[in-house]
Amino acid sequence: MQTLTIRRPDDWHVHLRDGEMLKLVAPFTARQFARAIVMPNLVPPLTAIGPAAAYRERIWESTGRDFRPLMTCYLTDETDPDVLAHGFDDDVWVAAKLYPANATTNSTFGVTDVRNIYPALERMQRTGMVLCIHGEVTDPEVDVFDREAAFIDRILGPLMRDLPELKIVLEHITTEQAADFVETAGPNLAATITPHHLMISRNAMFDRGLRPHFYCLPVAKREKHRLAIRRAATSGSPKFFLGTDSAPHSRKAKESACGCAGIFNAPYALEAYATVFDEEGALDRLEGFASVHGANFYGLPLNEGTVTLEKNETEVPDSLGLGTIELVPFLAGSELGWSLAD
Ligand code: NCD
Ligand code: ZN
Repeated sequence: MQTLTIRRPDDWHVHLRDGEMLKLVAPFTARQFARAIVMPNLVPPLTAIGPAAAYRERIWESTGRDFRPLMTCYLTDETDPDVLAHGFDDDVWVAAKLYPANATTNSTFGVTDVRNIYPALERMQRTGMVLCIHGEVTDPEVDVFDREAAFIDRILGPLMRDLPELKIVLEHITTEQAADFVETAGPNLAATITPHHLMISRNAMFDRGLRPHFYCLPVAKREKHRLAIRRAATSGSPKFFLGTDSAPHSRKAKESACGCAGIFNAPYALEAYATVFDEEGALDRLEGFASVHGANFYGLPLNEGTVTLEKNETEVPDSLGLGTIELVPFLAGSELGWSLAD
């Protein structure tokens, strides 16, 4: 059997939620990844150091302490630069997250105008703290499929001119424009790429009916964009790295007249990425994407140890559950070409 052994990887963007949902989903991430950048869009959002440290403890209760949750501060119009600087010094924050207000799930307290957080961003630029960005404009005049490209033109470009030394991760990129912009920008801009945006185009949401489990934000785009981000991910460029954006919502919340955005891919994320890199003839580049580029960008040490993937079919179950929570994983009921050896 063909096998692939790589340095232990990290997930540079994940939603672990809280309470019962945390207990269900966090072990899947900890099984695959040594560390993860944990999103702060809880209810209420994580805007202060104490609650973030307490949340990290709750994550450890579900994963054990071998797993390293890397905490992020949810930026609001009111963020105090001192809270960022102190939490960064105290090894609580690794990054801060910019949600444009109302761009996605639990972003109502997000930033209404990026100029409101310039003092915070200037402080981050001085300290080397990374800014993670959900890069979509919220202008209702802009078509939902164009919101990432519009964000780059209207917000990200000007922001990078004003704060050229700020380290920025444009998260979960979905378009050719984003891939090109990141590749040609200077060394302070990088991007994460999800398994689902590598595997599905927007057609998947409408395949013989409405498929809510393929709905996420940023929404999947046309096939040519999927192909562009596949090229970026498998190019070997250090500017692109793994970030699952695993975003669990209960089956009920997904299969609804107003279904939540988010794809739960944590259980088979590495298997999905390996399948994509194999299809692209780029298995030799998976380790860079999964285990090296992200840590280097964040200025963190590479992980010790390895994981081994085996080329054999893995069946993704129809659903996973705990107590009353039922989750439908990405690609439920289908087969992936690789599996993670225990
Ligand atoms: C995320 C969530 O559910 O928290 N949803 C999603 O579709 N990705 C929020 C986000 O990252 O946009
Ligand atoms: Zn996310």
